[in-house]
Amino acid sequence: MPPRKRAAGATILAVANQKGGVAKTTSVASLGAAFAELGKRVLLVDLDAQACLTFSLGVDPDEVEESIHHVLLGQVEIKDVVVECEDGVHLVPSSIDLAGTEAVLLGRPAREYVLQTALEPVRKEYDVILVDCSPSLGVLTLNALTAASGLIIPMPCEMLSHRGVGQLLDTVADVKRFLNKKLKVVGILPTLFDGRSNHAQEVLSDVGERYQLPVLSPPIPRTVRFAEAPAVGRSILATSRTSKGARAYREVAKSLLPQL
Ligand SMILES: Nc1ncnc2c1ncn2[C@@H]1O[C@H](COP(=O)(O)OP(=O)(O)OP(=O)(O)O)[C@@H](O)[C@H]1O
Ligand SMILES: [Mg+2]
Repeated sequence: MPPRKRAAGATILAVANQKGGVAKTTSVASLGAAFAELGKRVLLVDLDAQACLTFSLGVDPDEVEESIHHVLLGQVEIKDVVVECEDGVHLVPSSIDLAGTEAVLLGRPAREYVLQTALEPVRKEYDVILVDCSPSLGVLTLNALTAASGLIIPMPCEMLSHRGVGQLLDTVADVKRFLNKKLKVVGILPTLFDGRSNHAQEVLSDVGERYQLPVLSPPIPRTVRFAEAPAVGRSILATSRTSKGARAYREVAKSLLPQL
């Protein structure tokens, strides 16, 4: 990706994969905290009605009165729903209302552009905006891919050989043709990596070639620390500063800096 002009404001990166449980949300929270440690101004957007990102950053989705749902429907401005979190990042929270947003947007013109338009007024205040997508390729995910200049695809190593990647890449090709010429795949982020497994090692070395895509490095190791972090509303970078998972996310964030 060429460096963006400063005047445009934050680089917007979507973190998406229509497969569930591949560490999208964990990657958004951890990369967000890592970018903040590196002195970047970070905004995280929870675009999933399950609101796991919101919860994992210490905000109770049931207590959120105005969320990304209200922003997308044009009822409030994004700056009025932004929450400052302890990890040094700002969050646009989700709530269960978001489950009904797609149905409303479907009847609207330019429905794929509402997130991009909503982010515009705050874009200059941040260096990077990470969008956590739900496990689907619906209108909300299309909004993320339309607003973003880059896509990060988290994927467990065992899954790299599955057909799901092709489907996601078809969607990316459609988005590029019809909605957002600038969208680039920043890379596949190998997650839940078990370095002891020969299969994982083999798949990892093969994957970049197979899909003609960059593979981000290092892979994120599987560690129980990740399960503990959301319970206290902080990312693994704060709860387990020196764990190998935290170190891996820091390194990946550092490797992405030239692309911001
Ligand atoms: N490196 C890791 N090691 C161990 N567990 C992990 C790791 N990364 C994520 N997890 C766990 O895997 C589960 C799924 O992670 P996460 O919620 O980030 O995935 P997701 O892709 O956002 O899921 P969904 O598709 O439902 O939104 C969570 O319980 C999380 O704590
Ligand atoms: Mg998630």
